[in-house]
Amino acid sequence: MGNLNSDALVFFGATGDLAYKKIFPALQAMIRRGHLNIPVIGIAKAGWNVDQLRARAKDSLEKHGGLDSAAFEKLSRLLRYVDGDYADPVTFQALRKELKESQHPAHYLAIPPALFGPVVEHLETSGCAKSARVIVEKPFGSDLESARSLNQILLGTFDEKDVFRIDHYLGKRPVHNMVIFRFANAFMESFWNRNHIESVQITMAENFGVQGRGAFYDQTGTIRDVVQNHLFQVLCNLAMEPPVRTDSESIRDEKVKVLKAILPLEDKDLVRGQFRGYRKEKGVAPDSKVETFAALRLHVNSWRWKGVPFFIRAGKSLPVTCTEVVARLRLPPTVIRESALTQNHLRFRISPEVAIAMGMTVMASGEEMIGQSVEMLASRHPQPDEMDAYERVLGDAMAGDATLFARQDYVEEAWRIVDPILKKVTPVYEYEPATWGPVEVDQKVAPEAGWSNPTIATETPVATAVRAA
Ligand code: BG6
Repeated sequence: MGNLNSDALVFFGATGDLAYKKIFPALQAMIRRGHLNIPVIGIAKAGWNVDQLRARAKDSLEKHGGLDSAAFEKLSRLLRYVDGDYADPVTFQALRKELKESQHPAHYLAIPPALFGPVVEHLETSGCAKSARVIVEKPFGSDLESARSLNQILLGTFDEKDVFRIDHYLGKRPVHNMVIFRFANAFMESFWNRNHIESVQITMAENFGVQGRGAFYDQTGTIRDVVQNHLFQVLCNLAMEPPVRTDSESIRDEKVKVLKAILPLEDKDLVRGQFRGYRKEKGVAPDSKVETFAALRLHVNSWRWKGVPFFIRAGKSLPVTCTEVVARLRLPPTVIRESALTQNHLRFRISPEVAIAMGMTVMASGEEMIGQSVEMLASRHPQPDEMDAYERVLGDAMAGDATLFARQDYVEEAWRIVDPILKKVTPVYEYEPATWGPVEVDQKVAPEAGWSNPTIATETPVATAVRAA
């Protein structure tokens, strides 16, 4: 349907957790900015009416980000509700009626992927899929085969250009900023390649457990939950070539090329961990072998990156909550003795605050020839009215801009890389909560000079403060 704006937003799963935590706050924020003025139709099977949905929206806003009375009033006016079973054609006839004069709806499937099939089929037979877009949530499948069949289901009814697969990490401004930083700074190109970079590591640490999502998590694990999607997107932003144009397809082409250059993971490139206490979580099997931590090593066999290991580490119940990238540079071929040197590095912090830092060696104070690592830091704290990731991706999907969404070939390539190890039983090592995962990680899957553990709220030495761009 080209770049037409959607003229109604239909969201399946309206009474669910995601709607409560993310979608209502995003909708209110869009209204405040004047970006939403179309009917919003919630669908669920809860035996509710529209007033109950409004009450739920109000409660959601009070708990997540704060209620803005004027915006909420407008949202209440835009809200409609259809109650019914997703397997029942009557639900979709009711939806068609509720869509009234809307010709280009966006259907947002905030529901488990197992329900995509019947929902898409009924959207088609009821006429609701005509000139429509479909927005789907992660996880997009649970392996390569299931992702392929989901794609088949969606593409049987919708054109790829009308399918928007959400990875909310792409809606995070700092993740986008990494690409801008790479391609807006001339100095980056001179060293951002295998000649100068020794290794790249990406850490996504969370200092909390599964937060009541045990039943979901125990079917998922860290690799499916955040590595195959969020962290591969970060990896692609770091490793991709400059796109030849700025349209969504040119950008997405470059990302797919990164994944194509990665071989499927092998056992030796992975360490899984599980925090002590996980098996006692509600919804988790008492003998669960599902990982709550994963560390892996990948090689991007491209002209730019061949021979440079990329490490990814993610986990629950780690010491801090932080997502950060550290790229280490090779030592210079200098006459200064190596022990006096520290490795240069580039550090991108994505959350909790945005920071980009260059680590360099200066001489430590005193008469000894000792090098000290200091950082030149560019940082910026989030602005109070900065768009949340969900607001950004929903707005983009309704405007038909696919840049921040995973394309069919991308999701399938991403699953191809992790598929073999998802099918294998590899050891799951226990680790203590609030530690950096199992000890086996440092022995088996770690950069040459070890993992760099992000610290929060401790000042790193700053050589020169650089004004934030
Ligand atoms: C979600 C995962 O996709 O991303 C969660 O399911 C994870 O397990 C979350 O905690 C992290 O995203 P954010 O935006 O809260 O950092």
